[in-house]
Amino acid sequence: MAYTWDAVLETGNELIDRQHQELIIAINNLLDACNNGKGRDAAESTLEFMVNYALKHLRDEEELQVRHQYPHYAGHKKMHDHFKRAIAEIVLHFRENGTTVALVGKLNISIGEWLTNHIKNEDARLARYIVSR
Ligand SMILES: [Fe+2]
Repeated sequence: MAYTWDAVLETGNELIDRQHQELIIAINNLLDACNNGKGRDAAESTLEFMVNYALKHLRDEEELQVRHQYPHYAGHKKMHDHFKRAIAEIVLHFRENGTTVALVGKLNISIGEWLTNHIKNEDARLARYIVSR
């Protein structure tokens, strides 16, 4: 299943939206590499890209929250930390087992679905707060 960018995911913050779009592309590329048996090396490079991009995005978003003295920073950061642990689990699973059906399942639930829900709820709330200041 591929994730699509649409208006529901738009927060209105240019930086956040641009990074979310890139991240969704990276997740789709990774799912594609896992599903189409492109080989471990191809999957590994798409995984590495997705992980690095996701971590950079979380850092940038947290920095934005600190800069704007976002009142829900602590809770938002906790959710990011949970997401980071899910990413670490996926990397470990890939190293140990390669591109299994279970990995694709984890990618969909812990990364794709988690992220799209987080964007619609938490990141949208953050973007509204920044606009309101
Ligand atoms: Fe976030």
